Amino acid sequence: MPKIAVIADPHIGVEKPHFVGNWHRAVAEANARAPDLTVILGDLTFDGAHSEADCAFAREALAALATPWLAVPGNHDVGDTDRGSGKASDPARLARWRRHFGPDFWLSDLDGGWRLVGIDSQILGTGLAAETEQWAFLEEALTGGRRVLLFTHQPLFLKNWDEADRLYWASCGAARRRLRDLFRSADVAAVVSGHMHRAFVSLPKAGPSFVWTPATSFLTRDASMPPQGGTAMTGITLLDLSETGVAVGFHPIPDLETFFIEDFNGTLYPAPAR
Ligand SMILES: [Fe+2]
Ligand SMILES: [Fe+2]
Repeated sequence: MPKIAVIADPHIGVEKPHFVGNWHRAVAEANARAPDLTVILGDLTFDGAHSEADCAFAREALAALATPWLAVPGNHDVGDTDRGSGKASDPARLARWRRHFGPDFWLSDLDGGWRLVGIDSQILGTGLAAETEQWAFLEEALTGGRRVLLFTHQPLFLKNWDEADRLYWASCGAARRRLRDLFRSADVAAVVSGHMHRAFVSLPKAGPSFVWTPATSFLTRDASMPPQGGTAMTGITLLDLSETGVAVGFHPIPDLETFFIEDFNGTLYPAPAR
């Protein structure tokens, strides 16, 4: 049965290459575990939302993976869902992503009746034409009679389906509710997300599991973050698919360098919006 390696939040680029060493260590670890496929769960680039060079660098870096790969974009790749953030996702940013990495939303059918569905969380709730296309795609993709793993950079929510919007951190309520409605006529085993740079699994009594995957790049101190679940760790994630479901393994990598983004005093990224 298929085995998938997930590498989340590498944040690699040319002008600020601080996390490139960790990328290489994470790729070596993923390759050593001989998965069938590697999924890159967004924030692949340090600043692809502004930098063509970061996108070109990251695209070349993917050649180190021993397996085929699929990638969804994150906020640092294509911009924010918040229209007023100063770095909103827009057609030019989406076009840049697609030029370097291919579609920002996609599906891939695997053995055992599994379907991987990757979405672009950064267009949800934006009103962009790409969002309309993605909803039409999702309506088909989720109801094809297959067991689905949904990959998204931003989690759908931090605590629960009905929480207030925090656009920097999670999908907006309107998009979340529309997805929940789609899930009712689908068989979604798990929603797998990045962005939080933390490891977390939630197994509700009904509906999909929610998996937050650790980043390979850096950690964020609790004081910078909204209240949340999970464990601060860096590493990769392995998803083992079987007839009965998906087994999730978080794998710390001993030689990953540990960085806290706050220790750079805002020189790499501004402080996250708590
Ligand atoms: Fe990230
Ligand atoms: Fe992110």
